Amino acid sequence: MKFFLDTAIVDEVAQMVDTGLVDGVTTNPSLIAKTGADMRDTIAQMCALVDGPVSAEVTATDWQEMVREGVSLRTIADNVCVKVPLTMEGLRATHALTQAGHPVNVTLCFSANQALLAAKAGASFVSPFIGRLDDIGLDGMELISDIRLIYDNYPELETEILAASIRSTGHMREAALIGADVATLPVKVMQDMAKHPLTSSGLEKFLADWQATGQQILKDA
Ligand code: G3P
Repeated sequence: MKFFLDTAIVDEVAQMVDTGLVDGVTTNPSLIAKTGADMRDTIAQMCALVDGPVSAEVTATDWQEMVREGVSLRTIADNVCVKVPLTMEGLRATHALTQAGHPVNVTLCFSANQALLAAKAGASFVSPFIGRLDDIGLDGMELISDIRLIYDNYPELETEILAASIRSTGHMREAALIGADVATLPVKVMQDMAKHPLTSSGLEKFLADWQATGQQILKDA
């Protein structure tokens, strides 16, 4: 499973990239707006921090303008991935952009049918939003499972499932059990994934027992 950070805060990516756990970044207009920073500058900094894809979302709603915006975003860096909404216009833009060699992440996916269309359009990624389906009392993880089953029926479909709108470590575990190709997650969820109370207490005991020996591993410490 590839891990993308879902953030437009450059410092969050900078602090995590040295862990070796970050394969890419996803942004969206709301995340960008929250930072108050310039979008193109943010995307450029993100692209310099990670080797993998950095999703930059278009804001046009007709497919020709989406394509123009997408091609412009792609001039920022080679690892920019154009993000478009899952509308018929977005699908037309996806087809045109992928035909021209530009990778596309189709976002705001909320149904298996939408995901099937994204794959048909040639998207590199489809982003089904788990948390937002949960928010309205539906089962967001069921969508991930349906898309996985459908895509696996057709090996010719090369679109990767990018599990998005992830809110918890539980979402990460379930998405991985189903076999999502990628998860895009907030930094806090990635940090929480590493935590377990028995790890903390076990380490505390190890270190206390070791300290009692009076030994040191590095003799010249
Ligand atoms: O990548 C999509 C993600 O940013 C949406 O998350 O929590 O706003 O549903 P959320």
